[in-house]
Amino acid sequence: MKQKFPKDFLWGAATSAYQVEGAAYEDGKKPSQQDVINKDNYKIYGFATADVASDQYHHYKEDVAMMKEMGFSCYRFSIAWSRVFPDGVGEVNEKGIQYYRDLIHELKANGIEPIVTLYHYDLPWALVEKYGGWLDRQVVKDFEYFARYVINEFKNDVKYWTTINEQSIIVQYWTEKCYVPEDLRDNGQLRYQINHHMNLAHAIACNLVHGLVPGGLVGAPLGYSPIYPLTSKPEDFMAMQNAQALRNDYYTDIYFKGIYNKAAQHYLEEHGLAPKIEEGDMELIASGKSDFLALNYYASECAKGCPDDGSETIRWSGVNRSGKKGEIDGFETHPGFYKMCENPNLDKTDWDWAIDPTGMEYMLRDLYNRYNKPLMITENGLGAYDTLTEDGKIHDDYRIDYLKKHIAAMKKAMDYGVEMIAYCPWSSVDLLSTSNGVKKRYGFVYVDRTDDDSKECKRIRKDSFYWYQKLIRSNGEEL
Ligand code: BG6
Repeated sequence: MKQKFPKDFLWGAATSAYQVEGAAYEDGKKPSQQDVINKDNYKIYGFATADVASDQYHHYKEDVAMMKEMGFSCYRFSIAWSRVFPDGVGEVNEKGIQYYRDLIHELKANGIEPIVTLYHYDLPWALVEKYGGWLDRQVVKDFEYFARYVINEFKNDVKYWTTINEQSIIVQYWTEKCYVPEDLRDNGQLRYQINHHMNLAHAIACNLVHGLVPGGLVGAPLGYSPIYPLTSKPEDFMAMQNAQALRNDYYTDIYFKGIYNKAAQHYLEEHGLAPKIEEGDMELIASGKSDFLALNYYASECAKGCPDDGSETIRWSGVNRSGKKGEIDGFETHPGFYKMCENPNLDKTDWDWAIDPTGMEYMLRDLYNRYNKPLMITENGLGAYDTLTEDGKIHDDYRIDYLKKHIAAMKKAMDYGVEMIAYCPWSSVDLLSTSNGVKKRYGFVYVDRTDDDSKECKRIRKDSFYWYQKLIRSNGEEL
């Protein structure tokens, strides 16, 4: 490595409200759509509900103390809309907002910069019941109501704001990230309509931060995977370009150019999937300027040509529910455009996510070259089974290896000129996975619970905790 990490580089980790807080019905909070979706997941797959999660609501002081012990200079977390406004709009829940005042105060008192995400999949259930949630344009107005309140409340404490978590992933896995009634689930256009509503909400949040927060900076936290062609065959290269347009540029072009990527939009229009855009929407979108892009990077992806010969139909990304390598249930397919596939050159996690540190460097350099905006990593990490030994240790050398290689790749991208603000791996403490319960762990701190029994959620430092502490102490030198 050549240059050092800048002195003011932010080291920390990330979580999201419904995955870590618990206290789902406490102190005035009402359910979010994730409370409902995760109750179904328990019934169907036996995965834990979001009721207790990692119980950070009651452990936040202990968790912040551990962040301080690791040397964090930032912490990325999200604010649960239904804790602040249990009905989505209307009366603020004083106890709910107080929790975030306390958390932010605790962080700042320990020298930790809060990086706040406004929305991480957890729409108030009241708004789903009222009008179907993100399916209806009214949600944009209600989001503005919530965002204005929160941004105004914390305008003097929070400099870094991220808007809507992973729109790209919401489009792929919409029934997991949003509550969608059974009879609408075959309507692919609605995926992109929801995304359009989110683009409007994102732009509004950018404008609110710029209008209300002195020196405030804002960007989207995007789930992003660079895409390789399966082979050097021309049809695989075209597939790679098409997938790049629809899965990646479709989002980043909105954030930085204020437009829908033309190739992606053409494909969506041809297939009846394009969102309905109303007068003034594109002007609003273009007015919401991003200061940076926050990236959630776990894995790269691979694409191959897919002829439109009637042998395949459109399908969306698959998921591995079992946690046994190779049991992913399919790949996104758009006949005539691209089909995603396994990359034979890369090892995978037990949930079939390709492990690719080079993809980190590739992604950062590519995005910085194209948009010229600073970047931060708001998620990166290894979902793995951890074993608690009899003497109370977790030897997660596999996680250390993953993080080490990804940080080295990020540093390499920085050596090539990429401006990086922060590195926040997923996750600070173990938490509820979005699709696999609590067995799939990511944290530096083990949370002692199972899918069926939340026990006391006792915190135990993993080996990676001490490794990350050392790394931060050396400001990234001691990899
Ligand atoms: C990101 C999400 O997609 O990936 C997180 O922003 C999520 O909420 C993380 O937890 C890991 O995914 P999973 O499904 O393993 O929890």
